[in-house]
Amino acid sequence: MAGKKVIITGVPGVGKTTVINEALKKLRESGIEYQSINFGSFMFEVAKSENFVKDRDQMRTLDRAVQKKLQQQAGQAIAKISGNVLIDTHASVKTPKGYLAGLPEWVLREIMPDIIVLVETDDDQILMRRLTDETRARDKEGSRAISEHQQFNRSIAAAYAMLTGCTIKIVTNADFLLDRSSADLAEVLR
Ligand code: AP5
Repeated sequence: MAGKKVIITGVPGVGKTTVINEALKKLRESGIEYQSINFGSFMFEVAKSENFVKDRDQMRTLDRAVQKKLQQQAGQAIAKISGNVLIDTHASVKTPKGYLAGLPEWVLREIMPDIIVLVETDDDQILMRRLTDETRARDKEGSRAISEHQQFNRSIAAAYAMLTGCTIKIVTNADFLLDRSSADLAEVLR
């Protein structure tokens, strides 16, 4: 039987990777397995091997044509993976030239997701998480800009649903409520 393809998105620092890891732990306890794929890691491996970037946060600033090429290669590679697949990526990427669709038509048609999840929380919580995460070179921006990005992601997700017929699920990952957000995500994946 064909597996489920679920795409998880959220602005940087919203905690999507954290929620994914917790949800997958819960599912494993009930015998449900998903292969978890990080779209950015696929892009980064190619970008690093071609000496375009040294760290993954530099990818957002690459020439748009290069970012699109990397996206396409990642989409094609991920489309070949069978079974239940969970893809950790972005509905849109904030580049110096404006928002870049994270899932343009040619990537969506390869993957054809069943569900797209938007992980969201309050803008000020995201701001604090970015400021306290020393492991990454997070974009420095205020709550207002984060709010705009979250709103843009909802709008573009509607376009993705129109193209593929997938459903859109919003999961809130509020401070101190990781158990609730991961349970919500696990429910979607069952
Ligand atoms: P990616 O690897 O996805 O980078 P990212 O957006 O920074 O995602 P992370 O997984 O690092 O952050 P997160 O939001 O999941 O937060 P985390 O769980 O770490 O992508 C890298 C790059 O690849 C992109 O920048 C882009 O250039 C490129 N890319 C990817 N997909 C693309 C696409 N489709 N098209 C084009 N380019 C693409 O958590 C953050 C912090 O919050 C942690 O400190 C955590 O402890 C804390 N936290 C989480 N949950 C909670 C909670 N409930 N309460 C309190 N603290 C919490």
